[in-house]
Amino acid sequence: MDKFAIQGGVPLAGAVQVSGAKNSALPALAACLLTGEPVILHRIPRVRDIRTMQKLIESCGASTKAIGGAVRVQTAEIVSPEAPYDLVKTMRASSLVLGPLAARCGRARVSLPGGCAIGARPIDLHLAGLEHLGARIRQEHGYVEAEAPNGLQGGFIHFDRITVTGTEDLMMAAVLAEGETVLENAAREPEVADLAELLTRMGARIEGAGTSTIRIRGVKRLHGAEHTIIPDRIEAGTFLIAGAITGGELLVKGCVPEHLGALIVKMRQAGVDVAQESESSLRVRRTGRLTAVDATTEEHPGFATDLQAQYMALMTQAEGISFITETIFENRFMHVLELVRMGASIRTEGRQAIVAGPRELTGAGVIASDLRASASLVLAALVARGETVIDRVYHIDRGYEKIEQKLGKVGARIRRAA
Ligand code: EPU
Repeated sequence: MDKFAIQGGVPLAGAVQVSGAKNSALPALAACLLTGEPVILHRIPRVRDIRTMQKLIESCGASTKAIGGAVRVQTAEIVSPEAPYDLVKTMRASSLVLGPLAARCGRARVSLPGGCAIGARPIDLHLAGLEHLGARIRQEHGYVEAEAPNGLQGGFIHFDRITVTGTEDLMMAAVLAEGETVLENAAREPEVADLAELLTRMGARIEGAGTSTIRIRGVKRLHGAEHTIIPDRIEAGTFLIAGAITGGELLVKGCVPEHLGALIVKMRQAGVDVAQESESSLRVRRTGRLTAVDATTEEHPGFATDLQAQYMALMTQAEGISFITETIFENRFMHVLELVRMGASIRTEGRQAIVAGPRELTGAGVIASDLRASASLVLAALVARGETVIDRVYHIDRGYEKIEQKLGKVGARIRRAA
């Protein structure tokens, strides 16, 4: 199992390039199951979750081919409308094939995801939505089967709570359903809007993606298309924090500043200089001290849960007490005890973490528990005195492309070891 060895204490300096968004590329690959024609996707990040999704759609009948930084996918026919347990257990986003398979061939069999490091994460809202579109849902042997032999019918779906992949899954189901579908209380994440853009290029009729009401008028068939995935806002946010936590200066290139509004506001309040350098780049610089600023995670455009762990690492270096509240997932504080092992002062009370700072962090052996928790440990290690060894970095490889090379280029002393 790979590890990272990081020598902290170097202010990062230089430019770092953001990759394509993992959480946009995943539904985009699933959407390729909706048509028999080729779909070309640019800016697909080379991360492990993407390879898993490629394997999954290939097992359903897609053929995929890398062309430079792009991937060409063609699903001439669905040979197996199934997401097997072996793949689903390694990546919960596998449930994103449910909607496209039910829409394209009237049948889908998807393993139910089990427990997860960050929360229960059920898919009941995906299933209830499919039922509203006329699918018959059965659950047995750990699998859920959706059947709609005569095709899906448009319907009205109100999400009881906001779900990102649930919104994406049902949008993909509805594009081939007969008649109109309305998704209410839909997720407004940029990744949802990006998926709608791809589907529209494929011939779908969608209005309102990116707002909480999405209207979809079903079409008979979709065709091939070419699309460029949006930049990864969570990777970009992680780099902004890396620049700030090390007291350095970084140019974060190839991002969409508007996708990072909530984080930028917090960082500025904390005393970090974040400036928009161009339409697609941000410069982060910190010379002075950091002040503690509270944060509460919310659905987009609120403060992203996927940046909570990284922000907490930053707050360990800020003067004062910050309250960090996690409202999306019930157990997303796995990084806390590892940060405490490095010298941070953090106490948790239910869904709230109380961080007292600044504390000097010192290098230690720590364990990565999930993707974003691992990123927060990398950030803490960059500012810690001495060497930190982070074990189980396969978690970080799920969603960050070549992070050690990108950080190494801007001065971090980071090495991957077996
Ligand atoms: N929920 C339900 N029932 C459902 C679906 C969700 O109760 O049917 C609950 C979840 O348990 C959670 C909340 O609703 O408490 C929100 O979950 P959501 O469905 O929005 O999460 P997701 O779609 O499974 C995506 C991202 C996550 C990100 C969350 C929240 C992808 C592939 N994953 O997950 O990304 O944290 O939205 O923004 O888009 C990551 O990249 O590290 C990551 C975990």
